[in-house]
Amino acid sequence: MKPLLIANWKMNPLSLEGAIKISNNLPRDKAEIIICPPFIFIEKLKKILDIGIGAQNCFWEEAGAFTGEISTLMLKLMGVTHVIVGHSERREIFKENNLIINKKIKSILKEGLIPILCIGETKIEKESGETWDVLKKQLKEGLTGVNRDIIIAYEPIWAIGSGIACSSDVAEEVMVFIKKNTFFDNKILYGGSVNSNNVTDYSSFSGFLIGGASLNPVEFNKIIEIITQ
Ligand code: PGA
Repeated sequence: MKPLLIANWKMNPLSLEGAIKISNNLPRDKAEIIICPPFIFIEKLKKILDIGIGAQNCFWEEAGAFTGEISTLMLKLMGVTHVIVGHSERREIFKENNLIINKKIKSILKEGLIPILCIGETKIEKESGETWDVLKKQLKEGLTGVNRDIIIAYEPIWAIGSGIACSSDVAEEVMVFIKKNTFFDNKILYGGSVNSNNVTDYSSFSGFLIGGASLNPVEFNKIIEIITQ
């Protein structure tokens, strides 16, 4: 099976021209690549490049008085196939909890799209030995009533954007833990400071959730090259 690469662009780049530049030359025959750009670029990128598109967030109601939100149904109508939920930036900055995340996952599945549930512990939780409890709670509460395969991304929060990726031993341990604590045959990704120097450390994962390195086409292509040779 081809490795799955989810490119989480976060709030970048500033223009559609920039977005096209980053994504128009990816080796799509080698890996399954899903670009998750800011909402405003989704429709145009889909039309212009016909690439796999995911969203970085969604709202669970279909339509109505929800100022500032974008529904899962709207995303589906724009051609989105995957939606990231529970990213640590949404948990921390936007105070999304497991209950909200669970509602989002259910709406994504209801529309026939694929949720990518991010789980991970903070540096403090890691240092105080709480990692397993935190991950277990995120899985249990995030997946309550969810009875289908989804994608789960292990993203230790201390590794995101820090340049310090998780050791392969620990990542592997977490992968086994996720498998044990979920009922279905979920694809499991690693995310957190993935780059072309460390990507081979996680070869037992189904793929990667990549932030910073996915905005640099040379580096992103290099990562794809390395994992598919
Ligand atoms: P990073 O981000 O690759 O820049 O660490 C990963 C993420 O936030 O999903």
